[in-house]
Amino acid sequence: MDAVVYAFALAALAWVLVAGREITERHPVWRWYLTGYPSMAIRVVTTWRKVCQVNDLTVSYQPARRVLGDLVVRGEALRGVAPRLGLPRPVPGGVRVRVRLRPGQTPAPFLQAADALAHAWRAHAVRVDSPERGVVTLTASASDPLAAPHEASGQPAVLLSVVLGLLETGGVWRVDFRRVPHWLIVGATRSGKSTLLARLVAQLAPQRVALVGIDCKGGMELALFADRLTVLATTRRQAVEVLGELVNEIQRRMYLCRAAGARSIWDLEDEARPVPVVVLVDELAELYLTNGSREERAEAEQCSTYLLRLAQLGAALGVYLVIAGQRVGSDLGPGVTALRAQLGGRVCHRVNDPGTAEMALGDLHKDAVAVAQSIRTDEQGVAVTVADSGGWVRGRTYLTTPDDARKATLEHADRTPRLPLLALAKERGDRGEER
Ligand SMILES: Nc1ncnc2c1ncn2[C@@H]1O[C@H](COP(=O)(O)OP(=O)(O)OP(=O)(O)O)[C@@H](O)[C@H]1O
Ligand SMILES: [Mg+2]
Repeated sequence: MDAVVYAFALAALAWVLVAGREITERHPVWRWYLTGYPSMAIRVVTTWRKVCQVNDLTVSYQPARRVLGDLVVRGEALRGVAPRLGLPRPVPGGVRVRVRLRPGQTPAPFLQAADALAHAWRAHAVRVDSPERGVVTLTASASDPLAAPHEASGQPAVLLSVVLGLLETGGVWRVDFRRVPHWLIVGATRSGKSTLLARLVAQLAPQRVALVGIDCKGGMELALFADRLTVLATTRRQAVEVLGELVNEIQRRMYLCRAAGARSIWDLEDEARPVPVVVLVDELAELYLTNGSREERAEAEQCSTYLLRLAQLGAALGVYLVIAGQRVGSDLGPGVTALRAQLGGRVCHRVNDPGTAEMALGDLHKDAVAVAQSIRTDEQGVAVTVADSGGWVRGRTYLTTPDDARKATLEHADRTPRLPLLALAKERGDRGEER
């Protein structure tokens, strides 16, 4: 009888092992829930007190001075109390835990200790957030979710909304111009700015949207997509002209809205609504830097004024800006800081100078500046961006090669809207006409 029971038990164990292996190989997410999560959760709980002590995350309410005989002794209590740890919960590829702060504690020391926590828990990284006062959430990810993002298929196409890549939270990195109309994209050379612009072009190409390119690096990057661009400016002189025409265009739209009693083009009837325009600028500095001559300075100032005007008025009138630059600082000109204030969307790739990270993120999310500066050279396409929830998040664009984007632009070249004023600018640009 016993032999039969043993045989059954062995057979059941063998079945569990084989089936378990089969399931975990087919569904890596399950593998994490079944094996990775329990061991990391145990590590989090068992190391919590020690990690807190070593990293000054404990508090002590003992008085800092004591009287010993005739002496007053000053010092910190040896063993403080660690903040209260919640139950570690599984998230795809990681563990999240809520920590209730003790009175007197702030999230700052937890941010500093993120690396130590990652080592203690053998995690790839630990992200520290403070979703509400008195609470910190720690999210430990077992591996880098942005190492090789795979594009999910079947994303619904929504006008003026594009999928750029993957967020480290596992969500989709989506840019919706109707929610956040203007964007500043910064990053050192070869950090992934133009790839992001190529992705935008490829995603917007099938939509009823006019694309305007301003690429004063001689058109090296955006000229590839010329078939789907309503107009392309490759010199600053052309840029001034195109931006001027766009300012005229928004004025025309303003009259149109006023006449119809509408507050934005989205309140107009479908047939009366002018086509939305997305203006892509590759290398902002090329518009601002001058050789000091009066003529060049006047052109740069004109560009700056027009860009500011478009940023201030464009959102309601369907003109959206995406401005990319390697180094964006107030030294480019006084207009840059004013322009940045209008560009609510931010993407900060790897940067060489702290000033640019500060310019891109410092005014919105101070704590994200250091995160942007820690992006490595081999993490091309990785960036810190503003999150829909109001904070910041790391993401990685899906790699869109110039060839992929060019194919999309050729395929949808017939959808290129012709705006009357811009067509004039394009003709002049094509003829290389000097004013
Ligand atoms: N999301 C990504 N995933 C993988 N590789 C990427 C990604 N984005 C960019 N790259 C790689 O990085 C290289 C440089 O990217 P890109 O040309 O976009 O940089 P850039 O910031 O525009 O540089 P520059 O300032 O010199 O124009 C690309 O050729 C591509 O191979
Ligand atoms: Mg580039």
